[in-house]
Amino acid sequence: MKVVHTIQELRDQLRGQLRVAFVPTMGNLHEGHLALMKLARQHGDPVVASIFVNRLQFAPGEDFEKYPRTLQDDIKKLQRDRDVYCLFAPDERELYPEPQNYRVQPPQELGDILEGEHRPGFFGGVSTVVLKLFSCVQPGVAVFGKKDYQQLMVIRNMCRQFQLPVEILAHETVRAEDGLALSSRNVYLQPHERAEAPQLYAALQLVQQRLRAGELDTNKLGDEAANALQSRGWQVDYIAVRRQRDLNKPTPQDLAAAEPLVVLAAAKLGATRLIDNLEL
Ligand code: PAF
Repeated sequence: MKVVHTIQELRDQLRGQLRVAFVPTMGNLHEGHLALMKLARQHGDPVVASIFVNRLQFAPGEDFEKYPRTLQDDIKKLQRDRDVYCLFAPDERELYPEPQNYRVQPPQELGDILEGEHRPGFFGGVSTVVLKLFSCVQPGVAVFGKKDYQQLMVIRNMCRQFQLPVEILAHETVRAEDGLALSSRNVYLQPHERAEAPQLYAALQLVQQRLRAGELDTNKLGDEAANALQSRGWQVDYIAVRRQRDLNKPTPQDLAAAEPLVVLAAAKLGATRLIDNLEL
């Protein structure tokens, strides 16, 4: 695997390639990321991964400084799996060479709800860096995980609106045996919090069961699940049942027409904020 740090080196490696498959990450790679690389390999050649902790998507007071940076371990994992041809690991000056930056502003209806409401500027930061990375890598296909459900929608929307010639593929959320969605931030959990953490997924499954049993009041479903977590000591940002296609609240007509839904959640366990979702 080639490891490159500059855009020039990256372009030299990729010259003449017609269908690059790309997996952008912020590193501290786990099995979830490695599964994205495998999917990428089935859909394009060569596979390029990137590792870049993007300051723009962290609000002041969030975990930008302490975000785990484990480049040498990440390289070993990628070398072991042999799915990736080239790893692009730029530094900040390479990707943001000028102090004033253009920013991509996602539409409010998508970018300012749910995660966007609780992390203002987050999707603008994600969209900006993904557009830059796409411009560096020029992939034909890019792979994202469904764990970041709203992020996936924002990126699809951006590609459509900017007419980017990139096919976006989604990989199912990869979970630990006890149900916890794999995430780089799981390393922040204390042992007792790690034992409690699968309750977030259990709360989503509870919503699914109650909906299947005929409870159609989606606000009530979200509130019940949030109360269940709060009574166990979680601080819940939201648990919301939404339409899969646009993350809007489902109308009674949607429910009658069996519109595909998804329940999305974000909650804090101690100092660690976790997100998860379940398609219903
Ligand atoms: O999902 C992530 O790891 C990041 O948000 C991404 C897409 C790599 C952009 O920094």
